[in-house]
Amino acid sequence: MPLTDKFGRAITDLRISITDRCNYKCVYCRTGNEGALYGDLPFSDYLRMARVLVGMGITKIRLTGGEPLLRKGVVEFVHNLAQLRTPNGNGCGDPVDIALTTNGHLLADLAQPLKNAGLIRVTVSMDAVDPDRFTRITRVPNGYDHVLAGIRAARRAGLWPLKVNCVLMRGFNEDQIIPFGMFAREEGVTVRFIEFMPLEEDRTWSPATVVTLDEILARMGEYRPLVEIPHARSETARRYRFDDGVGEIGIIAPVSHPFCGHCSRIRITSDGKIRTCLFSVWDHDLHAQMRRGVSDEELADFIRGVVQKKEERHHIGEPDFVPASRTMVHIGG
Ligand code: GTP
Ligand code: 5AD
Repeated sequence: MPLTDKFGRAITDLRISITDRCNYKCVYCRTGNEGALYGDLPFSDYLRMARVLVGMGITKIRLTGGEPLLRKGVVEFVHNLAQLRTPNGNGCGDPVDIALTTNGHLLADLAQPLKNAGLIRVTVSMDAVDPDRFTRITRVPNGYDHVLAGIRAARRAGLWPLKVNCVLMRGFNEDQIIPFGMFAREEGVTVRFIEFMPLEEDRTWSPATVVTLDEILARMGEYRPLVEIPHARSETARRYRFDDGVGEIGIIAPVSHPFCGHCSRIRITSDGKIRTCLFSVWDHDLHAQMRRGVSDEELADFIRGVVQKKEERHHIGEPDFVPASRTMVHIGG
């Protein structure tokens, strides 16, 4: 029986945040200060959660943070996740698709060990191709060279497809759209522009700060014509290639073109809570169940109950919008 919510959406994607610490202070995510932390759990606890969830129909696991590569032991954890098998009836199921979202700062040295451990692919957040602009957005000095080296090391290691996420925030980086188109073509990566969502610590979001899908397409079209290519229904991004076949870009448009109707995701926060939506106003304490000493079957029952509470959709930009109970850095993207 696949894990399905009350709207009939199959839940196949799990995102686990393994820390809510981050070494960057990106303007669209954090304040310039350190901020409070919810903390993290031993890897053995995340592994048990993942094992139970894979037994229930999860086929894709993405590790997130904070910054997941800050966590010592991440390579061994990936190795352990890579041993999990989906149940398929004949006793020898398939491995899980394991991915990771990182700011790329520590990726250069870790890309090959992660690949060897069983990581399939990686998404790197990078919000400007201009180094000075990059520093203004991330609020750390000298990050740009590390991130570029990380992207190139990931490509060399065969972490593929390699995606670069760029959150566009008006007044900071909308002029980077065309440079990112060039970057996608030169570096052979998929660059995905993300509409800014109200999940930041600074509460700076307003509809006017969002650079929308239509605007991104119009701007990129001034550089080269784009051709839309099909995407899976549960995929977050609309996909486009340039007319000459060189370079792919994606646009993730949760604000102007929400994709909740096909959402296949649940999230586990670094402190072991299940979130059924980025914009949930509450979460569900899975780790508390484990501390009570429940069996795997009882854990699975708890998860099934939680999934029934998955929200139909978010309400960004609507009069009844209520901010999520956590900001992005404490959820995991
Ligand atoms: P793959 O398709 O496996 O590559 O995963 P993905 O595209 O979901 O990967 P990624 O972690 O890069 O997600 C891209 C971004 O889309 C996230 O960082 C969020 O900004 C946004 N996003 C992901 N899931 C959701 C969601 O459920 N709701 C909303 N509103 N935005 C989401
Ligand atoms: N809106 C949209 N995307 C965001 N991210 C972080 N905060 C926001 C936000 N407020 C992105 C990061 C990273 C991913 C995990 O989520 O850039 O790529």
